[in-house]
Amino acid sequence: MNKIRVDISNIFNFVSEKDIFAFQQKIEESIKSLVSKTGKGNDFLGWVDLPDEITETVLSDINAKADFIRRNAEVLVVIGIGGSYLGARAVIEALKHNFDFLLPDDKQKDPIVLYAGQNLSEEYLADLLEVLDKKSYAINVISKSGTTTEPAVTFRILKNHLESKYGKKEAAKRIVATTDKSRGALKQLSTSEGYTTFIVPDDVGGRYSVLTPVGLFPIAVAGFNISELIRGASDMRKQVTGSYSITENPAAMYAAARNALLENDKFVEITVNYLPNLYYFTEWWKQLFGESEGKEGKGIFPAGVVNTTDLHSMGQYIQEGKRKLFETVISVEKSHKEVLIPDDESNLDSLNFISGKNIHYVNQMAERGTTLAHLDGGVPNIKITIPEVNEYYLGQLIYFYEFACAISGYVLGVNPFDQPGVEAYKKNMFALLGKPGFEKENEEIRKRI
Ligand code: PA5
Repeated sequence: MNKIRVDISNIFNFVSEKDIFAFQQKIEESIKSLVSKTGKGNDFLGWVDLPDEITETVLSDINAKADFIRRNAEVLVVIGIGGSYLGARAVIEALKHNFDFLLPDDKQKDPIVLYAGQNLSEEYLADLLEVLDKKSYAINVISKSGTTTEPAVTFRILKNHLESKYGKKEAAKRIVATTDKSRGALKQLSTSEGYTTFIVPDDVGGRYSVLTPVGLFPIAVAGFNISELIRGASDMRKQVTGSYSITENPAAMYAAARNALLENDKFVEITVNYLPNLYYFTEWWKQLFGESEGKEGKGIFPAGVVNTTDLHSMGQYIQEGKRKLFETVISVEKSHKEVLIPDDESNLDSLNFISGKNIHYVNQMAERGTTLAHLDGGVPNIKITIPEVNEYYLGQLIYFYEFACAISGYVLGVNPFDQPGVEAYKKNMFALLGKPGFEKENEEIRKRI
């Protein structure tokens, strides 16, 4: 099996081997408690065994309903927020054609996936409804709790739109709900309306749910191979649960390196991509690590850039701003398509020295040059190499990051599976909106604005 590789050689100007290996014991304890499910937040460890426990029946149910949607809809609208949408979007955007919405009809075989319920922009929704007036479409509403405001409000609006477009009976066939197996408003509604439902397991939290139907159903509708994604995750699971050693286990190595950097005051981690279609993968990673580690006044702040685009904006800060940063570069070895730089007789742009080269080669040289420049500027970097962007390696990368995040959170001493901090804004928003039960908070907050 080809593997994802982690290289930490570019951090040793900033931390010593001793700093890294100081975490060996904590890492061993963390892996043991993840596998034996005895650590903090152990009621949310369903994701650990998921790639090997998901059944063929679940996968074929997902593929069967996805085929129905693929035959009957030009667009799938995924309604969800946070962990209930970012994983699917990360994989779909990574794999899809960059300009799928402009492909000629004879080439456009897969439904376009659009996203809603991840913001409260009225214009975004109005524009979406305008587009949906003219398209055949289906909805996948995803909410584990079934009560999150943004997706719930959005679903109300889109459900009405879908029902007036197709009638209640046909609309019900075009709605798939992914939610809790027995609790919550969405589950209740799905049962009474007869929607196809997929289950978010009790013991899997939102940001660890991409390998459940939360991520798998939209990914299958978009035309991608979910069995390959699971196979990649399962191979990575074997690797990261099979060794406690920082030198052998890539997740342990990454977790130890970033915690050593944090101890040396590097508290901002920038995930760096050189492929714009990995933008949402970084967004998924930001949620995974930000929500898992950022608590009790602890944690590394997760940020992201897409180069070479951002070298012409954020590149300045990274090269010369405050020296609290480190980078983790996701380096992709192979491009699936080739575009060559042509020779030009006049050579006015002086680029004939690279004529005949492909763009991926130039991108790789930009990556290597940037890494060294940033290193010289005081920014250590970790390199994660993946052979190519496909379902199998994305599956590996997802599981690698999930496991590394869990280890890292345990090493930091926090519960990586809760998110108490996200409640604060909800309380204020409900108070301001006048939600029944929030009368006292309403009175108090009004005095502050
Ligand atoms: O990771 C998490 O737990 C969160 O980001 C949730 O996924 C998000 O808040 C959405 O929650 P729900 O699926 O209950 O609507």
